[in-house]
Amino acid sequence: MIPLKEATSIKHKQAERMPFNARMFKGLLSRNEYLMYLHQQFVLFQTLEKSELPHSSLQRSRNIQADMEELKAQGAVSDIVLNSTRAYADYLSALPAEQLLPHIYLNYMALLFGGQMIRKAVPSSGKMYDFENTQEAIQSIRNVQRDEWAEEVNKGFDFNIQIFEELESKCMEEPIQPAG
Ligand code: HEM
Repeated sequence: MIPLKEATSIKHKQAERMPFNARMFKGLLSRNEYLMYLHQQFVLFQTLEKSELPHSSLQRSRNIQADMEELKAQGAVSDIVLNSTRAYADYLSALPAEQLLPHIYLNYMALLFGGQMIRKAVPSSGKMYDFENTQEAIQSIRNVQRDEWAEEVNKGFDFNIQIFEELESKCMEEPIQPAG
Protein backbone atom coordinates (compact mmCIF):
# COMPACT_ATOMS: atom_id res chain seq x y z
CA MET A 1 0.00 0.00 0.00
CA ILE A 2 1.23 3.52 -0.83
CA PRO A 3 2.46 5.36 2.31
CA LEU A 4 -0.05 7.97 3.50
CA LYS A 5 2.26 10.95 2.99
CA GLU A 6 2.91 9.88 -0.62
CA ALA A 7 -0.75 9.13 -1.35
CA THR A 8 -1.73 12.64 -0.24
CA SER A 9 1.26 14.61 -1.58
CA ILE A 10 -0.54 16.07 -4.63
CA LYS A 11 -3.25 17.59 -2.43
CA HIS A 12 -0.62 18.79 0.07
CA LYS A 13 1.15 20.66 -2.70
CA GLN A 14 -2.17 22.11 -3.88
CA ALA A 15 -3.06 23.32 -0.36
CA GLU A 16 0.44 24.71 0.21
CA ARG A 17 0.26 26.76 -3.00
CA MET A 18 -3.16 28.32 -2.42
CA PRO A 19 -2.74 32.11 -2.73
CA PHE A 20 -3.99 32.79 0.82
CA ASN A 21 -1.54 30.26 2.27
CA ALA A 22 1.30 31.57 0.11
CA ARG A 23 0.62 35.12 1.37
CA MET A 24 0.54 33.85 4.96
CA PHE A 25 3.89 32.06 4.46
CA LYS A 26 5.44 35.24 3.05
CA GLY A 27 4.23 37.34 5.99
CA LEU A 28 1.82 39.33 3.84
CA LEU A 29 -1.44 38.88 5.78
CA SER A 30 -2.97 41.84 7.57
CA ARG A 31 -4.15 41.41 11.18
CA ASN A 32 -7.77 41.31 10.00
CA GLU A 33 -6.98 38.64 7.40
CA TYR A 34 -5.08 36.48 9.86
CA LEU A 35 -7.86 36.90 12.43
CA MET A 36 -10.37 35.69 9.82
CA TYR A 37 -8.16 32.63 9.22
CA LEU A 38 -7.82 31.96 12.97
CA HIS A 39 -11.57 32.13 13.37
CA GLN A 40 -11.99 29.33 10.80
CA GLN A 41 -9.30 27.29 12.56
CA PHE A 42 -11.06 27.88 15.89
CA VAL A 43 -14.37 26.49 14.59
CA LEU A 44 -12.64 23.42 13.11
CA PHE A 45 -10.40 22.63 16.08
CA GLN A 46 -13.29 23.10 18.50
CA THR A 47 -15.21 20.53 16.48
CA LEU A 48 -12.26 18.10 16.42
CA GLU A 49 -11.68 18.58 20.14
CA LYS A 50 -15.14 17.35 21.09
CA SER A 51 -13.54 13.98 20.51
CA GLU A 52 -10.62 12.53 22.49
CA LEU A 53 -7.20 13.40 21.05
CA PRO A 54 -4.21 11.02 20.86
CA HIS A 55 -2.25 13.35 23.23
CA SER A 56 -3.41 16.09 25.60
CA SER A 57 -0.80 18.58 24.40
CA LEU A 58 -2.45 18.58 20.95
CA GLN A 59 -5.39 20.68 22.31
CA ARG A 60 -5.49 23.87 20.21
CA SER A 61 -8.77 25.72 20.93
CA ARG A 62 -7.45 27.67 23.91
CA ASN A 63 -4.26 28.71 22.10
CA ILE A 64 -6.19 29.84 19.03
CA GLN A 65 -8.55 31.81 21.24
CA ALA A 66 -5.55 33.54 22.89
CA ASP A 67 -4.18 34.51 19.44
CA MET A 68 -7.59 35.88 18.48
CA GLU A 69 -7.83 37.91 21.69
CA GLU A 70 -4.36 39.33 21.09
CA LEU A 71 -5.32 40.52 17.59
CA LYS A 72 -8.67 41.92 18.75
CA ALA A 73 -6.89 43.88 21.49
CA GLN A 74 -4.84 45.47 18.69
CA GLY A 75 -8.02 46.52 16.88
CA ALA A 76 -8.46 43.65 14.41
CA VAL A 77 -12.05 42.75 13.59
CA SER A 78 -13.49 39.62 11.99
CA ASP A 79 -16.25 37.32 13.11
CA ILE A 80 -17.15 35.58 9.86
CA VAL A 81 -17.59 31.82 9.74
CA LEU A 82 -17.19 31.00 6.06
CA ASN A 83 -19.58 28.62 4.26
CA SER A 84 -16.65 26.31 3.47
CA THR A 85 -15.70 26.20 7.17
CA ARG A 86 -19.29 25.46 8.16
CA ALA A 87 -19.38 22.67 5.53
CA TYR A 88 -16.21 21.03 6.91
CA ALA A 89 -17.34 21.44 10.55
CA ASP A 90 -20.73 19.89 9.71
CA TYR A 91 -19.01 17.02 7.92
CA LEU A 92 -16.71 16.42 10.93
CA SER A 93 -19.57 16.62 13.43
CA ALA A 94 -21.41 13.82 11.64
CA LEU A 95 -18.42 11.42 11.77
CA PRO A 96 -18.07 8.77 14.48
CA ALA A 97 -14.98 9.30 16.71
CA GLU A 98 -12.90 6.61 14.97
CA GLN A 99 -13.39 8.23 11.57
CA LEU A 100 -12.26 11.61 12.88
CA LEU A 101 -8.70 10.31 13.25
CA PRO A 102 -7.66 10.95 9.59
CA HIS A 103 -8.78 14.57 10.06
CA ILE A 104 -6.90 14.80 13.34
CA TYR A 105 -3.76 13.56 11.52
CA LEU A 106 -4.33 16.12 8.76
CA ASN A 107 -5.06 19.24 10.77
CA TYR A 108 -2.65 18.73 13.68
CA MET A 109 0.29 17.61 11.51
CA ALA A 110 -0.32 20.75 9.43
CA LEU A 111 0.45 22.83 12.54
CA LEU A 112 3.23 20.53 13.78
CA PHE A 113 5.13 20.66 10.45
CA GLY A 114 4.27 23.46 7.99
CA GLY A 115 2.92 25.56 10.86
CA GLN A 116 6.34 25.69 12.51
CA MET A 117 7.64 27.39 9.35
CA ILE A 118 4.66 29.75 9.09
CA ARG A 119 4.62 30.91 12.72
CA LYS A 120 7.42 33.46 12.23
CA ALA A 121 5.49 35.11 9.42
CA VAL A 122 2.09 35.67 11.07
CA PRO A 123 0.97 38.96 12.64
CA SER A 124 0.47 37.55 16.18
CA SER A 125 2.70 35.78 18.69
CA GLY A 126 1.56 32.46 17.14
CA LYS A 127 0.34 30.52 20.18
CA MET A 128 -1.57 28.22 17.82
CA TYR A 129 1.80 26.75 16.82
CA ASP A 130 3.09 26.31 20.41
CA PHE A 131 3.00 22.71 21.63
CA GLU A 132 4.12 21.80 25.11
CA ASN A 133 5.78 18.66 23.86
CA THR A 134 6.10 18.68 20.08
CA GLN A 135 7.88 15.34 19.68
CA GLU A 136 5.42 13.47 21.90
CA ALA A 137 2.50 15.12 20.11
CA ILE A 138 3.85 14.06 16.70
CA GLN A 139 4.59 10.55 17.93
CA SER A 140 1.07 10.14 19.33
CA ILE A 141 -0.32 10.74 15.83
CA ARG A 142 2.32 8.55 14.16
CA ASN A 143 1.25 5.74 16.54
CA VAL A 144 -2.32 5.72 15.20
CA GLN A 145 -1.99 6.80 11.55
CA ARG A 146 -2.84 4.29 8.82
CA ASP A 147 -2.05 4.20 5.10
CA GLU A 148 -5.71 3.21 4.58
CA TRP A 149 -6.68 6.80 5.45
CA ALA A 150 -5.50 8.29 2.14
CA GLU A 151 -8.97 8.84 0.66
CA GLU A 152 -10.32 10.46 3.83
CA VAL A 153 -7.21 12.63 4.29
CA ASN A 154 -7.49 13.77 0.66
CA LYS A 155 -11.12 14.66 1.35
CA GLY A 156 -9.95 16.74 4.33
CA PHE A 157 -7.38 18.47 2.10
CA ASP A 158 -10.20 19.33 -0.34
CA PHE A 159 -12.19 20.93 2.49
CA ASN A 160 -9.10 22.92 3.53
CA ILE A 161 -8.47 24.00 -0.07
CA GLN A 162 -12.07 25.25 -0.29
CA ILE A 163 -11.52 27.26 2.88
CA PHE A 164 -8.31 28.84 1.49
CA GLU A 165 -10.22 29.63 -1.70
CA GLU A 166 -13.04 31.36 0.17
CA LEU A 167 -10.63 33.20 2.49
CA GLU A 168 -8.81 34.64 -0.51
CA SER A 169 -12.01 35.69 -2.26
CA LYS A 170 -13.22 37.44 0.92
CA CYS A 171 -9.91 39.29 1.12
CA MET A 172 -10.19 40.37 -2.50
CA GLU A 173 -13.73 41.71 -2.13
CA GLU A 174 -13.84 45.42 -2.92
CA PRO A 175 -15.17 47.51 -0.03
CA ILE A 176 -18.59 48.95 -0.97
CA GLN A 177 -18.19 52.59 -1.93
CA PRO A 178 -20.80 55.04 -0.64
CA ALA A 179 -23.09 56.29 -3.47
CA GLY A 180 -22.35 59.73 -4.96
C1 HEM B 1 2.65 27.09 3.45
C2 HEM B 1 2.01 25.99 3.76
C3 HEM B 1 2.65 24.69 4.12
C4 HEM B 1 3.96 24.34 4.19
C5 HEM B 1 5.18 25.20 3.91
C6 HEM B 1 4.02 22.97 4.60
C7 HEM B 1 5.17 22.25 4.81
C8 HEM B 1 5.25 20.97 5.30
C9 HEM B 1 6.48 20.25 5.57
C10 HEM B 1 7.89 20.80 5.35
C11 HEM B 1 6.15 19.03 6.04
C12 HEM B 1 7.10 17.93 6.45
C13 HEM B 1 7.35 17.09 5.22
C14 HEM B 1 8.38 16.03 5.45
O1 HEM B 1 8.30 15.32 6.46
O2 HEM B 1 9.24 15.91 4.60
C15 HEM B 1 4.70 18.98 6.08
C16 HEM B 1 3.98 17.89 6.53
C17 HEM B 1 2.60 17.84 6.57
N1 HEM B 1 1.72 18.83 6.20
FE1 HEM B 1 2.22 20.62 5.42
N2 HEM B 1 2.75 22.48 4.78
C18 HEM B 1 1.88 23.50 4.49
C19 HEM B 1 0.51 23.46 4.53
C20 HEM B 1 -0.22 22.37 4.93
C21 HEM B 1 -1.67 22.35 5.01
C22 HEM B 1 -2.58 23.52 4.66
C23 HEM B 1 -2.01 21.12 5.46
C24 HEM B 1 -3.39 20.58 5.75
C25 HEM B 1 -4.38 21.27 6.26
C26 HEM B 1 -0.78 20.36 5.66
C27 HEM B 1 -0.73 19.08 6.13
C28 HEM B 1 0.45 18.38 6.37
C29 HEM B 1 0.49 17.01 6.87
C30 HEM B 1 -0.69 16.14 7.20
C31 HEM B 1 1.84 16.69 7.00
C32 HEM B 1 2.42 15.35 7.53
C33 HEM B 1 2.85 14.43 6.40
C34 HEM B 1 3.47 13.18 6.98
O3 HEM B 1 4.67 13.19 7.24
O4 HEM B 1 2.72 12.22 7.26
N3 HEM B 1 0.27 21.16 5.34
N4 HEM B 1 4.19 20.16 5.64
